[in-house]
Amino acid sequence: MTRVGVVGAGLMGTIHARLLASEVPGARLVAVADPDRAAAERLEAPATYEDGFELIAADDVDAVVVASPVFTHEPFVLACIAAGKPVLCEKPLTATPEAAWRIVEAERAGGSHLVSVGFMRRFDPGYVELKARLDAGAIGRPLLVHCAHRNPFVHAFFDSAMIITDSAVHEADILRWLLGEEISSVDVRCPRASARAREGLQDPQLILLQMASGVLADVEAFVSAGYGYDIRCEIVGEDGTLALPVDVSTGFEQRFAAAYGHELRAWIAGEAVAGAADGFAAAAVCAAGVESLRSGGEVPVRIG
Ligand SMILES: NC(=O)c1ccc[n+]([C@@H]2O[C@H](COP(=O)([O-])OP(=O)(O)OC[C@H]3O[C@@H](n4cnc5c(N)ncnc54)[C@H](O)[C@@H]3O)[C@@H](O)[C@H]2O)c1
Repeated sequence: MTRVGVVGAGLMGTIHARLLASEVPGARLVAVADPDRAAAERLEAPATYEDGFELIAADDVDAVVVASPVFTHEPFVLACIAAGKPVLCEKPLTATPEAAWRIVEAERAGGSHLVSVGFMRRFDPGYVELKARLDAGAIGRPLLVHCAHRNPFVHAFFDSAMIITDSAVHEADILRWLLGEEISSVDVRCPRASARAREGLQDPQLILLQMASGVLADVEAFVSAGYGYDIRCEIVGEDGTLALPVDVSTGFEQRFAAAYGHELRAWIAGEAVAGAADGFAAAAVCAAGVESLRSGGEVPVRIG
């Protein structure tokens, strides 16, 4: 039985803690940490902490889920590596590629695979089927991918760069995973902003991702879409097309409910989940995207 502690008792920490408490064979929720102790206590784990580092150090915690804000991810993940404990860190692994690279290096220096990243779309049944059919040759050689990432609304702290680093980071990962290759450059183009977007927020954005093989992907990232949470993906190949079923829901919690459970079960079972190098690659793509948003034009992705 793996005794799991969850750091961060907000939206994602609650989803993970509830799943760990009841729907993940081989796992037991033993502790939750949050500076907001009342939030931690609501999750009804046997132990609660205000300090995430204390949870990571606790003798009765074997593995850790980090679901706190992104600025806390690097120190918590490094503490897990130092303690030799497996960690599933929510996306994005870090806010910058430099910080993600420090994690890659720390994990390598420790000599064991400990870091997983919560790119849960890899476990969404729709994406899994898309990849299986693509890999089986159903549409021949892929040429183009059209993606849309639409949120009904976002919180006031969301800025234009976060549309890339916090939302479209999911597409950066899923495109690498679906196509099995790296993204080589990013070009962000912006239409006029929606009247629904908060003052100053450049929303929507059209993010063009050039894959290393020559496949071109476009991502419409639109976080003030109003009508619902709507994730689309169509791959155009030489012999046909493949697409996710259209599934408009109220939010990511509903749309990816199955994926969060599959991801945790895979992590506990020691199966492949996105790792630190994937977190670094996605952060590098996002950094290029933010640079393109600010300066205009195509920006190469700097990996390594
Ligand atoms: N995979 C997904 O679909 C998905 C969806 C939403 C958010 N996320 C990611 O999950 C993470 C958390 O997002 P959220 O929406 O749950 O945020 P949230 O604001 O709902 O919750 C964050 C929680 O972390 C706590 N916290 C703040 N500082 C802390 C610290 N130093 N130690 C421990 N806890 C601390 C806060 O008190 C809060 O309870 C982010 O990285 C976010 O990008 C992933």
